[in-house]
Amino acid sequence: MTTSSQNKFVLVTGGAGYIGSHTVVELLNKDYNVVVVDNVSATSQDTIHRIEKITNKKFPFFPWDILDGPALRDIFNQFDIGSVIHFAALKGVGESGQIPLAYYHNNITGTINLLQVMKEFNVKNIVFSSSATVYGEPPIIPIPETCPTASGPTNTYGRTKLFVEHIIRDLCTAEQDWNAALLRYFNPAGAHPSGMLGENPSGVPNNLMPYLAQVAVGKREELCIFGDDYKSKDGTAIRDYIHIVDLSIGHLAALEKLNENPGCIEYNLGTGQGTTVLEMVSAFSKAVGRDLPYKICPRRAGDVTNLTADPRKANKELNWKAELTLDDMCQSLWKWQTNVANGVV
Ligand code: NAD
Ligand code: WQD
Repeated sequence: MTTSSQNKFVLVTGGAGYIGSHTVVELLNKDYNVVVVDNVSATSQDTIHRIEKITNKKFPFFPWDILDGPALRDIFNQFDIGSVIHFAALKGVGESGQIPLAYYHNNITGTINLLQVMKEFNVKNIVFSSSATVYGEPPIIPIPETCPTASGPTNTYGRTKLFVEHIIRDLCTAEQDWNAALLRYFNPAGAHPSGMLGENPSGVPNNLMPYLAQVAVGKREELCIFGDDYKSKDGTAIRDYIHIVDLSIGHLAALEKLNENPGCIEYNLGTGQGTTVLEMVSAFSKAVGRDLPYKICPRRAGDVTNLTADPRKANKELNWKAELTLDDMCQSLWKWQTNVANGVV
């Protein structure tokens, strides 16, 4: 498949991160021209080499910051960019409450800076990494895109996502030649099937799957399950876990959609299947081949009961559907974590 948009470059900000790196692999596999900017604050440059190994392709990479306007202009001057997939952001929910200005600066000022440079170069197609966190504690399950976000996210990080959604929407309203896909990810999980790409958080992982994976390799003693008094079949909270490869492919579908000049549209990228924490522990234990230790702890502040997507709008309008299973997520994560523990990656 070749379209005119594929002859231009796709600029991927944060393309060396967890979701960005997997998306760059899918783009290269489909012969898109890709240029990546990532300040490597939350990753390592080695990720770029591993993407090149997996795809057997080279691509331009700039270890620069999206807050740096002249640096961004330099990239836009060097490459004929047609669209941007914007992943670059800080994503620590807990940390965002401790250093809110850093989060607002990086995630909001960084995005405004990027949008300004895009406008200067007449590049008006953007795919933005939003989050299911914009729904706060949703009144409707499964959650459609029309679910109100007014009560809003329960943390500073989530507010940066919601505010950027508003900024992009306002821009599309003011200037009708802009097109934007605001992708609300549910819970990305798993790793690349090669075992060469995945999430490797520094310090104590904030999220369930990386924490569980570190328990499995003996780096952490046991998992703390945050609350077993939620309204669910086993009392633990429900999330919609989506395989990182399915999620990445969703970005290509969104890019294609932008060619139809749709204006600004929101899409839920999820599976539509809710899974409790205990079910996830059981699925990952199966992949590892033994029971993993856990204890029940108090609820974590800001957590909500259930975030399960209604993905039908994305299924229909993007012609995209998550295909991979919980077992695929768990097996690929286990392969990746084993490689990390053995120093293979
Ligand atoms: P990540 O931390 O692995 O990737 C983000 C990348 O952006 C990192 O490589 C980091 O070095 C880079 N970066 C950060 N600030 C930058 C800046 N100012 N200039 C240049 N590069 C910068 O995170 P991820 O999980 O891959 O998330 C990607 C995007 O998806 C983020 O916007 C995140 O908020 C959003 N998101 C993630 C999840 C999730 O659970 N992982 C869920 C919903 C939304
Ligand atoms: C999943 C479930 C926890 C860790 C977060 C962000 C969201 C998005 C995705 C973006 C919850 C439970 C977790 C642990 C546990 N981020 N849990 N023990 O909170 O749904 O979403 O990541 O960039 O914005 O809020 O994901 O993986 O942290 O938690 O019991 O050690 O696992 O309570 O029910 P969450 P998570």
